[in-house]
Amino acid sequence: MARADFQTLPGTRDILEPDAGRVRRLVAVFAEAAAEAGFGQIVPPMFEDVGVFVRLGEATDVVAKELYAFTDKGGRDIALRPEFTASVCRSFAQNRPTTPWKTWYAGPNFRYDKPQKGRYRQFDQVGAEVIGSDDPDVDTELIALAWRFYQRLGLSDVTLLVNTLGDFAERPVYLDALRAHLEANADALSDQARSTMALNPLRVLDSKRREDAPVVAGAPLITDFLSDDAAAAWDRVQAGLDALDIPYQVAPRLVRGLDYYTRTTFEFTSSALDAAQNAVGGGGRYDGLVAALGGPEEPGAGFALGVDRTLLACEAEAVFGPDGDPVDVWVVATTAGTEGLQLVEELRNAGIRADRAYDGRSMKAQMKRADRSGAAVALIVGDDEIAAGTVSLKKLRSEAQGGQATQVPVERDRVVDRVNQVLSESPL
Ligand code: HAM
Repeated sequence: MARADFQTLPGTRDILEPDAGRVRRLVAVFAEAAAEAGFGQIVPPMFEDVGVFVRLGEATDVVAKELYAFTDKGGRDIALRPEFTASVCRSFAQNRPTTPWKTWYAGPNFRYDKPQKGRYRQFDQVGAEVIGSDDPDVDTELIALAWRFYQRLGLSDVTLLVNTLGDFAERPVYLDALRAHLEANADALSDQARSTMALNPLRVLDSKRREDAPVVAGAPLITDFLSDDAAAAWDRVQAGLDALDIPYQVAPRLVRGLDYYTRTTFEFTSSALDAAQNAVGGGGRYDGLVAALGGPEEPGAGFALGVDRTLLACEAEAVFGPDGDPVDVWVVATTAGTEGLQLVEELRNAGIRADRAYDGRSMKAQMKRADRSGAAVALIVGDDEIAAGTVSLKKLRSEAQGGQATQVPVERDRVVDRVNQVLSESPL
C-alpha cells in the first residue's frame, strides 16, 4: 500500500474505534462519579497566556522543557496547556465562584515529552479540583473519588501511594537538610542526580537510577520536619483512608513532577504497565497556587488521571467487554430511487440506529455487508417491495441462534413499529 502523504506527528495518534468508544465510556464513568460527589464541570481553553503555566515552576520539566509555547499573530505569548490545574486556578481568580469550588474536567494536554508507549505529546486527562478548603477530608474525598473511578472500571492492579510534602514554611528547613545529605554523598550519586541536586534536590528522591538508591534511602524524610498543623492534617488523611477501607502505601519519597504541591500528595500506579510509565494518575494539595496566579489566598487540592494510560491498564487487565457499537438495522436497497435514503432517515428520526451501503452495490454485496455489520435486522427494499407497498424484514444472526433466517414482508408505513418490536424481542 502506498504511504499516505502525511502521518501523525511523533507523540500523537488517531484514537479510532474500539479505543475511541472506550475513551467515551471512561470519561462517562468519571463524569458520573464526579457529579455524585458534587462536582460541576469546567471546560477551560486549551491555550492560555504562557505566564499561567510558568507559575507551575520554572525548574519543572513541564515548564522548562516540555511547554508548547509560541507567539500568536497578535504578538501574545501563549502556550498549549500541559495540565488543567493552573487553568482551574486562573479561572477561580478570574471568576471568583463561591467556595469551596468543586470542579471536574476532561480533555487533552500537550507536553513536548519523549514519546513512548504510555507517554504522548498530546494526552487526555480527567480530573477534579477543590478550591477554598484546607480540610484534610477534602484530600481524602478526592482520593476516594479517583479510587471509585478505578474500581468502577474494574481495575484491580492499581496501587495508591500517599505522601505529605509539608507546608512552604517548613520546606526550606527540610530542603537544607536534604541538600546537606546529598552534598555529603555527592560522590556516590549519578551525574544526573548531581545536576538535579542544585536545581531541585527533591527530584533526586525520584531518581530511578540504581546507583542513587543507597543515598536516596538514607535521605532525611519530610515527615520528620512537619509543623504540628501539617502533621495533624497528614494523620487525618491516613485515618480517613483507613475509615473508608481504601488500601494505600505511605511513600515517604514520593515526589511529584510539578512544584506547586504542599501537604498531601498521591499517585496511582498500575502494575500492569511498564515501570517508567506506570503512573496512571496523581495529585495533591497546592495551597499557594491560586495566590501565585493573582487570586486570593485560597487553598486547593485535586488530581488528574491519565486517560491514555488508564486505557492501557484496562487493556492489560482485560476489563473491556465486547467492543463495538453496531447499528440495529441495515438497510439493503436495490432500487435506483430514494427509498433506501428515506428509510434510513426515518429509522434514525425514530431513534433506531440504522446504516446502509452506498454506490449502488449488488443485492448480494449489500447482504454480505449487512451480515458483517453486527446489525440485528436487515430491511430490504427492491422493486417488488415498492410495488407491494412493503419492506422485507430479515433477522440477521439467526443462524447462530439455531434458526433459519426468513424474510417477512412488513407494511411500509408500519416499519418503525415492527422494527422496534423485533429489537425488543431479540436476545442481543
Ligand atoms: P501529572 O502527574 O503531571 O499531574 O499528570 C497526571 C497523569 O497524567 C499522570 O499520572 C499520567 O497518567 C498522565 N500523563 C502525564 N503526562 C503524560 C504523557 N506525556 N502521556 C500520557 N499520559 C500522561 C498533573 O497533571 C496535575 N495537574 C495533577 C493535579 C491536579 N494535581 C493537583 N490537581
